[in-house]
Amino acid sequence: MEVSPSLGLVSSLTLLLPLVIFLVHVYCTVVLRSERIKRKLRMQGIQGPPPSFLYGNLPEMQKIQMKTLKASSFQAADFIAHDYTSTVFPYFEQWRKEYGSIYTYSTGLRQHLYVNQPELVKEMNQMVTLDLGKPSYLTKRMAPLLGNGIVRSNGLFWAQQRKIVAPEFYMDKVKGMVRLMVESAQPLLKKWEDCIEAQGGIVADVKVDEDLRELSADVISRACFGSSYSKGKQIFSRLRSLQQTFSGQNILFGVPNFGFLPARKQNKISNLEREVESLIWEAVKERAVNDQSLGKDASKSFVVDNCKTIYFAGHESTAVAASWCLMLLALHPEWQDGIRKEQAEVFKDGQLSVDSLNHLKTVTMVIQEALRLYPPAAFVSREALEETQLGNIAVSKGLCLWTLIPTLHRDPAVWGSDANEFKPERFNCGVSKACKFPQAYIPFGVGPRLCLGKNFAMVELKVVLSLIVSKFSFSLSPKYHHSPTYRMIVEPGEGVQILIQKI
Ligand code: HEM
Repeated sequence: MEVSPSLGLVSSLTLLLPLVIFLVHVYCTVVLRSERIKRKLRMQGIQGPPPSFLYGNLPEMQKIQMKTLKASSFQAADFIAHDYTSTVFPYFEQWRKEYGSIYTYSTGLRQHLYVNQPELVKEMNQMVTLDLGKPSYLTKRMAPLLGNGIVRSNGLFWAQQRKIVAPEFYMDKVKGMVRLMVESAQPLLKKWEDCIEAQGGIVADVKVDEDLRELSADVISRACFGSSYSKGKQIFSRLRSLQQTFSGQNILFGVPNFGFLPARKQNKISNLEREVESLIWEAVKERAVNDQSLGKDASKSFVVDNCKTIYFAGHESTAVAASWCLMLLALHPEWQDGIRKEQAEVFKDGQLSVDSLNHLKTVTMVIQEALRLYPPAAFVSREALEETQLGNIAVSKGLCLWTLIPTLHRDPAVWGSDANEFKPERFNCGVSKACKFPQAYIPFGVGPRLCLGKNFAMVELKVVLSLIVSKFSFSLSPKYHHSPTYRMIVEPGEGVQILIQKI
């Protein structure tokens, strides 16, 4: 039977119609919205690189990144330049030089505002509105890793979770965890002593990163869930596998994939996610709060999601910060000596205690300076969930704001001409006297979404570094290759390798 041409045309049109409606919808909601936001910024005098149609500045970002990769492979591998921003985030640096500390760019479907002006960061610090949240396009991809816990959520739901979880990390609670931190560090100290014995009894070449990660995981496991690392180990290994599946996707570029991932990858993520959830629930269900107002399922997901969040947020960045601290201390043995000298005055019976922590000023300054030069979290990112105002800038709904922390931490106008040097003494009289704009020192973020594990992380770093420096002296191994790399946080790309000797 022959189909008449007009009938064929009608059925083709019927099939195509939903696609046409979808494309018109995308064009109106996404492309036009992005255009409107951009126009409004330009009218306020904010410039930026010219975007291409549909993909915005993505092609240029990728081009600049490739050019930098090629150029940096020719550089001497052993050269340690603390300013890594132009190699790790070259497009932001290039545009900053062209357009200043505030500019706009686009990743195709989204418009962004780069905000690296200290006055505006101060404004962000003071804003208490719920109208600025975490960018949903970023956090959506991280749902399997973080659930709908504090890091990912926004608005009232975030505020409710933060109110419940934050008090668990107040300073008085953290002080009660010092003993368990000291206990958790013992296996690492013993392992490194054994390494020295095994390598001839005088000096050992050790790669510190995995040991620090295990230690930090052990601390957070014991502190939050009472279970030791041996129980939490399975959870960590799966969370790490999940993290690795994400760092492959170029989160920052936000390459539009319309939510689609290859089926095999999607299955892997779903399986890991299910495993992590049941392992966490097994570990905590007896002690979990059963808040009747939340309902049974909501209560379970509240606990599981926030455990995942704390497991992830709580151990990775602290371990990486400890690696960077050891790298810098290895380069600067005079600061190791300074820490030991102070310990001799402060420690009672040669032992670290809760009371002694407040008097360990030198190690605190070293940590502050390491977090200035190598802040593990590279960005503060926000999305305007409603129209809002940032200083004198009218911010449209949907605009994403980005503050590049390492750039702010190296601004000579804030820190002086020695901004790229390791000088812990600048923190001698605290953060407020270390630079012209103390609000520009933001290793733990800004405003109401400031890291809630800040006290916990600082105390843990103090304990771990104090113990290591009291037992070992160390220098950089010739095998160390300086390669800061962005994998959701800025970490030593090939790890930190040091030569250790017993004191
Ligand atoms: C040196 C170690 C750490 C660094 C550098 C760090 C840094 C940060 C940064 C930059 C943010 C984002 C803040 C913002 O968007 O303004 C953040 C958020 C967060 N951090 Fe940390 N963090 C560290 C350790 C920890 C620890 C130990 C915990 C848990 C015990 C933790 C839990 C969190 C949570 C739950 C959030 C989300 C807060 C919210 O959105 O309300 N972090 N952290």
